[in-house]
Amino acid sequence: MIKIITIADIHYGKNTLTKRGDTALSLLDEFNLFVDNEKPDFIVDLGDRINDVDKKNDINLQKKIFKKLNENKIKTYHICGNHDVVNLSISENEEIFNQSLENEVILLNNYKIILWRADTKIYHTDNFRGFKINEMDFIWLNTEVINSKVPVIIFSHVPISPASLIGNYYFQNNPSFGSYPNSSRLRNSLCKASMPVFFLSGHVHWNSFAQEDGITYLTQQSLTESFSNYGKPAKSWGQISLDNKFSWKVYGDEPIEISLDIKKRNIITPLGSFSSSNQDLRAK
Ligand SMILES: [Fe+2]
Repeated sequence: MIKIITIADIHYGKNTLTKRGDTALSLLDEFNLFVDNEKPDFIVDLGDRINDVDKKNDINLQKKIFKKLNENKIKTYHICGNHDVVNLSISENEEIFNQSLENEVILLNNYKIILWRADTKIYHTDNFRGFKINEMDFIWLNTEVINSKVPVIIFSHVPISPASLIGNYYFQNNPSFGSYPNSSRLRNSLCKASMPVFFLSGHVHWNSFAQEDGITYLTQQSLTESFSNYGKPAKSWGQISLDNKFSWKVYGDEPIEISLDIKKRNIITPLGSFSSSNQDLRAK
């Protein structure tokens, strides 16, 4: 069995809106105890490690996260979120975390695990504000998923999930900041995969589950988010187990647990419209 522990949106630093950055390091102490007890194959950090301030402060915040996560015995793969790249470049993050932060594939026990480190910078121009998908990132992910002969698990910071953002403190009124602008194009492309695909992201600061055209989209709650927990941090981290099932369990004050069979996708073209002109379908 493969075991992966996931942590999202640590947001260490000064408190910002409902992000309880002041609680991050003490919660990471609890996280490290959990990790060393569970002994996963590896950890995935889904990004937004800090509440950004400026370059000097952000370097210090990131270094403290690196040091704290190094207190457990398990390797962590990092993905950058939008707050990690406001004042720091990808190469500065690479230097602090001592690893490449390019797109990456991990092949393990007949699973393809993808760290999709697409651009998470939020762009502000006169006529555009939001995320952009670099075309090369789109093509890279699409090729890896479509050509896979084994089940695929994808990790990213920004979701491409079709799940509703209604009720989300940050994104109900800012949906274009809650996912990539052309997510449906990517989803429509990924659904041509013949193998099961599971896609877990951070960024939206709540747990969600959605399926579209046979693909499962999940988002994981932030470690320190408080908007849905009466002002207290959610204390969330997750664990994915892969054997003959895909199981995802989020711990903390907002738990969720999902277990799905991993089976080859059964692609059947949906029925046509039940329109009045289609008498044959209406009769059934
Ligand atoms: Fe975040």
